[in-house]
Amino acid sequence: MWDFFQTVHHRHSIRRYQTDMPVEEAKLHAVLETAVAAPSAGDLQSYCIVTVREPLLRQALSKAAYDQEFIADAPVSLVFCAHNERCAEQYGERGRTLYAIQDATIAAAYAQLAVVAAGLGSTWVGFFDEQAVRDTLALEPGSHPVAILCIGYAAELPQETPRKRLDDVVKWR
Ligand SMILES: Cc1cc2nc3c(=O)[nH]c(=O)nc-3n(C[C@H](O)[C@H](O)[C@H](O)COP(=O)(O)O)c2cc1C
Repeated sequence: MWDFFQTVHHRHSIRRYQTDMPVEEAKLHAVLETAVAAPSAGDLQSYCIVTVREPLLRQALSKAAYDQEFIADAPVSLVFCAHNERCAEQYGERGRTLYAIQDATIAAAYAQLAVVAAGLGSTWVGFFDEQAVRDTLALEPGSHPVAILCIGYAAELPQETPRKRLDDVVKWR
């Protein structure tokens, strides 16, 4: 079992999945529970998470993401949707344009780390046609998909991707 810091450093995108290995219910549940444990503005949780397992929907999602094929191969995709107007009721324009997106994004980031802790792999997908995703999932008005997290057992070794040096991103005052 990795500790938290190892989990963070072992997370890298997985774009090939074991297509014959479903994600166990208990693991999926643990990932979702971790996502909703994330902080949110005013604890409003101005987002929803659409869990997609049905093969035809996965294929449609893949198409909506400009034919990124691994989305269809991954046994589960979680689609994180911001509820901008719900947040705007409490926080006005800042809630609408910033907090709601942050809420959904933080939840997705928590989920992505839980995926690693559960022995699974994932890729965060942001390159998609929002309207096509909305149509595919029959999202209610007011739900804005901001991230798709494809999840499954890896069929490739994660590639270590480089990061900037701390000095290049951290400013001290
Ligand atoms: C906002 C965002 C959007 C992304 N969109 C895509 C995408 O559409 N397709 C894809 O294959 N990877 C996508 N990624 C994954 C990044 O390419 C990847 O996280 C980055 O290159 C670092 O590699 P690593 O995840 O292996 O550490 C996205 C990541 C983020 C955070």
